[in-house]
Amino acid sequence: MLSTLPRLIGHRGAKESAPENTLASLREAARQGARWVEVDVMLTRDHQPVLIHDDTLNRTTSGFGPVPDLTLAELKRLDAGSWFDPRFASETVPTLEEALALIADLGLGLNLEIKPYPGQDVPTAEIAIATLKRLWPPDRPLLLSSFEVPCLEVARDLAPDIPRGYLLWEPPADWAAIADRVGAATLNVHQDRQTAESVAAYRATGRPVLAYTVNDPQRAQTLFGWGVAAVFTDAPGRLAASLGNGAA
Ligand code: G3P
Ligand code: MG
Repeated sequence: MLSTLPRLIGHRGAKESAPENTLASLREAARQGARWVEVDVMLTRDHQPVLIHDDTLNRTTSGFGPVPDLTLAELKRLDAGSWFDPRFASETVPTLEEALALIADLGLGLNLEIKPYPGQDVPTAEIAIATLKRLWPPDRPLLLSSFEVPCLEVARDLAPDIPRGYLLWEPPADWAAIADRVGAATLNVHQDRQTAESVAAYRATGRPVLAYTVNDPQRAQTLFGWGVAAVFTDAPGRLAASLGNGAA
């Protein structure tokens, strides 16, 4: 699964050029040459998995308030593109089902980040995994990830064969024990917090290190020099062009 991990992963699709976590953003990532994309999944009030990053609708849709206040039908009436650019006015918040179909059609690998609304760790992971099992082609590259340890535990128990990435922001003192316990295949760390030493410490656990979010080619080069395996970027095409052959 991870053998096809590219150096560059499109973050929320291609967030620099299209509204994040929309179908347009996924198409744009593919158009720019990305081979994998990362998207965030959360549940609606009626427990439908959809692609959205924030806990509220305010920033990335025409709606307001917490994501789980709305049913899928209500959410689908919102405009998820105009905030970015009027030409994306027809974009809606995609269901996970719609996104999986498109990502597979585009021939991309997927990092699905389980991004539960607070208090919804277990159902979000359970439903995301059930949807993947139903719809994601078993031969296509897939990495599940989460900042929330309970989500990774659900993933370990329900889908042990899908590799799991442990997302870290401020690593807890016992991050290595947690990574062992959840059976993390990768450590997905904040790029800004890294040094040669920190990356070496993560790599010493035997896991590839992925860093988010890198939009500066020089920074990407530095991180790769420290042994980072891949970076999440809002601009996969621009970074690939700057980094040269083989970067994507
Ligand atoms: O999965 C990498 C990255 O997306 C994690 O942070 O906040 O952009 O979801 P965030
Ligand atoms: Mg994410």
